[in-house]
Amino acid sequence: MILLLLLQVLTSCLWLGHGEVVTSSLQSKCPQFFFWQTPPNEALTPANSASICQLYENQYYYATLYDRKERIPVYSAYIYQPKHTKRCQRWMVEPQLIDLKYPKTMETQSYVLHDLKVKKTLLKDSQAVLEDYEHPGDFHRGHLTPCSHTFDSSSCNSTFTLTNIAPQFAKLNQGAWKKYELTTMKNMAQNCKTTYVIVGTVPGRNYLADRVNKPSHFWSSACCEQNDNRMKAWGVIAENNKNAVEELSLGELEKRLTDLYGRGPVSLFNNACPRQ
Ligand SMILES: *[C@@H]1O[C@H](CO)[C@@H](O)[C@H](O)[C@H]1NC(C)=O
Repeated sequence: MILLLLLQVLTSCLWLGHGEVVTSSLQSKCPQFFFWQTPPNEALTPANSASICQLYENQYYYATLYDRKERIPVYSAYIYQPKHTKRCQRWMVEPQLIDLKYPKTMETQSYVLHDLKVKKTLLKDSQAVLEDYEHPGDFHRGHLTPCSHTFDSSSCNSTFTLTNIAPQFAKLNQGAWKKYELTTMKNMAQNCKTTYVIVGTVPGRNYLADRVNKPSHFWSSACCEQNDNRMKAWGVIAENNKNAVEELSLGELEKRLTDLYGRGPVSLFNNACPRQ
């Protein structure tokens, strides 16, 4: 009886410990990508998630919370530094999702299969792969952290990893969402010193290649301190079957996400970011 009780306590401790590692690790491993080093709260975290500090050639460029079950990122968090425009097209995957014994740097699929000698089924079990996006229909590979918000060729390259990608309605990807990334962001961040951005997805009901979730929504939010030292924040949300982006206050976006995720009140940024 006592043994049973002990076992119960032990397993619940392990379980709690597990949850903590998952969310606290972005905070402990790469807090620099979050305003006041505060990642979004637990309400966004799915049951089976992985925290990824996106490492490319010895440098961290942004942070991603990855949904292992849906094989898409929940969100990527980065600092807005739109200096680079040239895009490169070498897609990569995340070896550490296969097993923690593999490198923490993103690598090409062929490196993982041929150099690390990982079985393809193991890679496919752990994450989305190139073939998943081979017959995308009306959906493109939608970046969460986009190359257009990065500062050089390396940081741009680091956005071409499938853990930073989710199927995005092609017209939205090339239309209203692109306009948001290029024009609206530029206007909004005009007087900002450092702009912290979190871009995310809400899982939908359909799948690409029967494996990769097609999100029902894409959303983006930002918080910054302006040159006059006042704080500013904003958000947008887009349905992933229309070419339209809706602009919202941070508070409105959080409320919308609270309803959509259904796991309690969502908080994206530290309290210092204005919700109105
Ligand atoms: C970026 O990726 C391209 C294409 O693979 C490569 O040629 C280039 O050297 C990379 N740039 C850096 C700085 O890593």
